[in-house]
Amino acid sequence: MYLGIDLGTSAVKVVLVDDAQTITGSAEEALAPARPKPSWSEDDPDSWIAAVERALDRLRAEHPAAVAATRAIGLSGQMHGALLLDAGDRPLRPAILWNDGRAAAEAAELAEHSAALNRRLGVAAMAGFTAPKIVWLARHEPQVLAKTRRLLLPKDFVRLHLSGDFVTDVSDAAGTWLLDQQARRWDDEAVALCGVDPAWLPPILESPAPAGRLRSALARRWGMRDDIVIAAGAGDVAAGGLSIGAIRPGDAFISLGTSAQFFTVASAHQPDPERAVHAFCHALPATWFRMAALLNGASVLAAAAQWTGGADIGGLLEETEKTFTGPSPLLALPYLSGERTPHNRPDLRGAIIGLDATTQPTDIVQAMLEAVAFSLADALNVLRGAGSTVETAGLIGGGARSTFWAKLIASATGVELVKYEASDRGPAYGAARLARLSVSGEDASSVAVVPPIERIVKPEAALADAYQGRLEAFRSLYRALAPEFS
Ligand code: XUL
Repeated sequence: MYLGIDLGTSAVKVVLVDDAQTITGSAEEALAPARPKPSWSEDDPDSWIAAVERALDRLRAEHPAAVAATRAIGLSGQMHGALLLDAGDRPLRPAILWNDGRAAAEAAELAEHSAALNRRLGVAAMAGFTAPKIVWLARHEPQVLAKTRRLLLPKDFVRLHLSGDFVTDVSDAAGTWLLDQQARRWDDEAVALCGVDPAWLPPILESPAPAGRLRSALARRWGMRDDIVIAAGAGDVAAGGLSIGAIRPGDAFISLGTSAQFFTVASAHQPDPERAVHAFCHALPATWFRMAALLNGASVLAAAAQWTGGADIGGLLEETEKTFTGPSPLLALPYLSGERTPHNRPDLRGAIIGLDATTQPTDIVQAMLEAVAFSLADALNVLRGAGSTVETAGLIGGGARSTFWAKLIASATGVELVKYEASDRGPAYGAARLARLSVSGEDASSVAVVPPIERIVKPEAALADAYQGRLEAFRSLYRALAPEFS
């Protein structure tokens, strides 16, 4: 039995996975990140620990025998955060999250520093990454940096609590803008450039490596053995890849969670910073990935539901599907939180044009679903431009539950989408696979297998044709409005 913990943005998810790789139990605890100022996004790291403990308490209460049989724990988490600890390992301020845009000016300055550095670090600096936030803190909260003794990524704070170990893994370190992606170690030049004290940084392990053991007090609390290994784990994107067996060069998937990613596995580090493709370390040794990172995924649907007064997102999707007859007469931009790939513009915002007196809530929802689909077509375009070939891609994440949305995405991108059984199990399941690898000595390819296929969603010819023109209109709308947001 293996346990995977994913520290997401809006919830902590925990899964128990047996030796046949079946999920035998799960628990989820909501988190409440805050937006104290426009474009800021922060969370209280202590609330993460409390949520992990509550989730495990519940899992223990519901599945005592399975929890007692756990051999190892794997961690996954939201990437790119900045969490600063004092000499007593206490957070000095709320963690600054991946979707925080305050460090836009600092990121732009770092991105200009050196093309060679951008390539080595996998992509030019962007506002959401860890390192530009440190430069922002040096300018705006120097008192925090003066007391800083450790810099951690979100899931590694959970590890510090669970095992007392100060460690990160290579796939999460990849998103800091401090990692030499080829050498898979901290990059001295970037560390110095960003004013990071090397002593703040944790050692880096490969994701399946054992990184420590669960503290005995916690093992007793959950009725576990006292030799539970905690694997190094992975950033949530790489862990999501492991969950569906995306580990071979050319494997591709779209993850449609709060944010969205178009992800392709690569056999080498192949940077292409000009196109804002992220070329990062994957969660298996000597493996990399190339990713278009979109800040606006299912969160856009949640926002559209809120604007239209529909609390029930599933119901609203059903209504929209019922009224669907073809491309929406409305045209929308989905950039509610700014965008990384391909625009690298934290200041972008959403837009809808074409409203008239007859516009219905379902029209607005459809326009926003299409806007995300078009932004995924843009993502595919830059991945292809950077040399990746993609004909088929997995579809995972909460947004994968809607076959209707999948049809729009398949038709807008021209890519056949594969939905797997329990495809929303995601990064926590990938983390459980890393837990297994950390103790079993098995080959990764025999553990990170492709799950059974539930459904293949192909592009629909007529819709794909109609979307070609709409995609061009979407791109023109972006070009016309982009200057207005700066
Ligand atoms: C990836 C990214 C998000 C976060 C939060 O680049 O920003 O996936 O990891 O899930």
